Parts: sequence; C-alpha cells; structure tokens
Amino acid sequence: MEQTYVMVKPDGVQRGLVGEVISRIEKRGLKVVALRMNVIAEATAKEHYGEHAARPFFPSLIEFITSGPSVSMVVAGKNAVKVMRAINGATNPVDAAPGTIRGDFALDVGRNVVHASDSPEAAVREIAIHFKDSEIGKYSRVD
Ligand code: CMP
Repeated sequence: MEQTYVMVKPDGVQRGLVGEVISRIEKRGLKVVALRMNVIAEATAKEHYGEHAARPFFPSLIEFITSGPSVSMVVAGKNAVKVMRAINGATNPVDAAPGTIRGDFALDVGRNVVHASDSPEAAVREIAIHFKDSEIGKYSRVD
C-alpha cells in the first residue's frame, strides 16, 4: 500500500486545524500510520525543501516552517500520494477548489496549512527525513 508524508504546518497548528486535517484524511479512508508534533529543526527543514533552495521564497519558507510546532504524519492507502494532494488542493490557495483543505481554510501560498509529498519518489524521501522505520505502524490491511 502506498505511503505519503503529510505535514500540518505551523499556521494550521496555530489555527487549531490539526483535528480537521486528520478527520478529512480518515474520513476519505486513508490511514495515519505515524504521527508526531514538534518544532522542525532548521537543518531538517532545509533538507525537506531542498528542491526549492534557489527560489526567492526559500529563506522565508524555512523561517516559517521552523517558527512553531507542526504535525508530521505518514499516511497510507491506495494511491495515497495522489489522493492526499487532492484532499489538500492546489498549492496556491487562490487556485484551490472549495472542499479542499486549502480551498476551505487558506488564502496565502506561504500560509497554506498543509504539505503533502508530490510524487511517490518524494514520499519515500520525505518519510525517511522525518521518521525512522520503527516509528511507522504496520497495518495488516489499510484498504
Ligand atoms: P508546499 O506544498 O509545502 O511546498 C513548497 C512550499 O513553498 C509551498 O507549499 C508554499 O507554502 C511555499 N511557498 C511560499 N511562497 C511560495 C511561492 N511564491 N510559490 C510557491 N510556493 C511558495
């Protein structure tokens, strides 16, 4: 079963949206198989967002992601990467459809509540950055 990495970013935690995000994931039928709340270290944030290192928004992105507690999850299920991206909606909330997390709760691309891996390869990389194998629960069935 496919796994993906999901983060409720500091804006989502501060606004009390953790339960809302988890509820949408669970109601859709995906399973949370690992979960942690912490303030992400600067080095970890830079590794996670390494592909954006040359972008002008990179410094403010790192500063924001490390500015307060966030919630990291491994989410598992059929086509988990694609389904989770659909639950979140477009990266820029202005383009996100109503009914998606960003379409319902965000307006600013830099404060878009959630992150999810954008490909199965990115999911493997991001899960390994944030979780040890032993921290990820094993379900015999997740469908
Ligand atoms: P995320 O899905 O976590 O991946 C990269 C993040 O960079 C993105 O969500 C946005 O929150 C953030 N970001 C900040 N500014 C921009 C921007 N101008 N364009 C794209 N992403 C941005």
